[in-house]
Amino acid sequence: MEEVRNQTVERKHSHVELCLKADVSYTSRTNGLEHIELVHNAAPELNFKDIDLSTTFLGQRIDYPFMISSMTGGYGHAEELNRTIAETAATLNIPLGVGSMRQALENSDHQKSFSIVRQAAPHIPIYANIGAPEVAAGLTDEQLAALIGMIDANALIIHLNPAQELFQPEGSTDFQHLLREIDRTASRIPVPIIAKEVGCGIASDTARQLLDAGVTVIDVAGAGGLSWQKVEEERYLKQFGSDNRFSPQALEQLLEWGIPTATCLLDIAELKEEQPRYADAPIIASGGIRNGIDIAKSIALGASIAASAGMMLKALEQGRLQEAILQWMNDLRAVMFLTGSPDIAALQQTTIRITNA
Ligand SMILES: Cc1cc2nc3c(=O)[nH]c(=O)nc-3n(C[C@H](O)[C@H](O)[C@H](O)COP(=O)(O)O)c2cc1C
Repeated sequence: MEEVRNQTVERKHSHVELCLKADVSYTSRTNGLEHIELVHNAAPELNFKDIDLSTTFLGQRIDYPFMISSMTGGYGHAEELNRTIAETAATLNIPLGVGSMRQALENSDHQKSFSIVRQAAPHIPIYANIGAPEVAAGLTDEQLAALIGMIDANALIIHLNPAQELFQPEGSTDFQHLLREIDRTASRIPVPIIAKEVGCGIASDTARQLLDAGVTVIDVAGAGGLSWQKVEEERYLKQFGSDNRFSPQALEQLLEWGIPTATCLLDIAELKEEQPRYADAPIIASGGIRNGIDIAKSIALGASIAASAGMMLKALEQGRLQEAILQWMNDLRAVMFLTGSPDIAALQQTTIRITNA
């Protein structure tokens, strides 16, 4: 048991280090948003300074349509990172997702790096986080209560990460009964469930199955940003020296596996149009979001808010997290001005053109 705990702490620490220092982004794939164009409005009838970026997400008013995506927790340095993330999110009045809370369930010593988040940000939406393998194995009522209670969570994120687990040296690749267990989880907790990938995207058929299983929000977390296959491959190589698990060409393709964020958003928008019972499901656009123009395009494609992890971690490391987010929000405001969108609801209705997709 002690060995499992140490392994989890080592993993969390090396994830942050690798995301900051190693070459672990998609290279042959982008988020696909370069194929989306928003139509310029030469007569916007707006005062730039009056543009309203606030919105309501899961019943809570937030100042910007942006969330800091799940990253870390559960080891010494994570407490410091999480405190800064929480303070920034509180200042900006935006939601944040914490990293996987598995280690806090395994060892109560690790709870502080999570509970600190709620202490630093008493009023914003904060979302708990647990992985699909833990959900598929069946979480007890006590474990669910602990996940939510530890941070007084406003929602529970379940991260779906089959490709990451496949590459992880100590990964859990038993995803059987996942949908049934998500359904059972949804009926036992007092907060909504957000189903999220970690960079390989959620297809519309999967989104439909998840919504049918009681999930409230889909965070597409598509391909184009960090590749978690690459992060885990780095860890595998460090541990074993070489990787003979896959043939060389397959390995190359698996490391780049995933559905680009824009494709996920377009496909889910089509599902919503064809099947009105899914029309109101809020969507989070994430996976390789690089600036406020990507956020504007995502919202025009039907997302309620956008989210980012990898780029936020880099900004945090440089001591400019708040500055980076505000710069993205100014990008977003610029696009809203140039498309004649006075608020987020108007941006959701703005005309898009798809170019050579
Ligand atoms: C250091 C780090 C740790 C992460 N850990 C988690 C996690 O515990 N749970 C989770 O749902 N996602 C986790 N993620 C994944 C992100 O939330 C996100 O889905 C993914 O990195 C793709 O978005 P990006 O391209 O903006 O980074 C982590 C990301 C980073 C950078």
